[in-house]
Amino acid sequence: MSSVKKNYSRITTNSLLEMKAQGEKIAMLTAYDFTLAGLVDQAGVEVILVGDSASNVMAGHETTVPITLDQMIYHAGAVVRAAKRALILVDLPFGTYQSDSKEALRSSIRIMKEAGAHAVKLEGGHEIKDSIERIIQAGIPVMGHLGLTPQSIYKFGTYTVRAREEAEAQKLLEDAKLLEQLGCFAIVLEKIPAQLAQKVAQELKIPVIGIGAGAQVDGQVLVLHDMLGMNQEFSPRFLRRYADLDQVISTAVSDYTSDVKSGNFPNEQEQY
Ligand code: KIV
Repeated sequence: MSSVKKNYSRITTNSLLEMKAQGEKIAMLTAYDFTLAGLVDQAGVEVILVGDSASNVMAGHETTVPITLDQMIYHAGAVVRAAKRALILVDLPFGTYQSDSKEALRSSIRIMKEAGAHAVKLEGGHEIKDSIERIIQAGIPVMGHLGLTPQSIYKFGTYTVRAREEAEAQKLLEDAKLLEQLGCFAIVLEKIPAQLAQKVAQELKIPVIGIGAGAQVDGQVLVLHDMLGMNQEFSPRFLRRYADLDQVISTAVSDYTSDVKSGNFPNEQEQY
């Protein structure tokens, strides 16, 4: 058992800072519902992200753009009710923080009060500086998100690796430093070259959590359904599958269907 696991009953933003200072890696996964969030929490991750990837994974949308604040609050409330130890971080969905900083604060307050979350995550750097500042001033912890920011998919036009070019890499490094100065407690770096991610992690005191950003950062995050192997169609290079739940689930459902049709279920022990 790690030292941080022993010392904290509930993981806080300070626990994460301390983990970075001690060189202990941070494990973060998404969850969107009560049942899976309980399992993820008991298995020992430090952070559960109620990601706007719920838009894809839960609702079947092509992008993260359509999910609403009410829908995020619904998912986040279920996760908060399940998790006893992890810090619960919730994505501010597209359109709830870009217009102005007051709207960003109002959206964050709804997530904190109605869902009971512990922190929020926003995509972007300098362009959303005022929103981040106002949310943090109100006492709400903020995690930044740079690199591939899926809410801007229609600007990028592709989900390919970001910041390969020098100018974009330089802007990312400056944005990361700005987020730290503004008071963010951590940042996510998505799908950028490992060397750049390593440089950012070395230059910042706050934890840097990677997804497709290599090993030399302070922690990792994956989408739960992807790492459980529930979607064989999504196979980016950074994804490691720790299970093949699609096989397990389809075999179980097809066995059940055959048993119902053959009259093999329920048997005498399974009735009253
Ligand atoms: O929404 C999400 O799942 C995320 C992770 C990919 C970091 O933002």
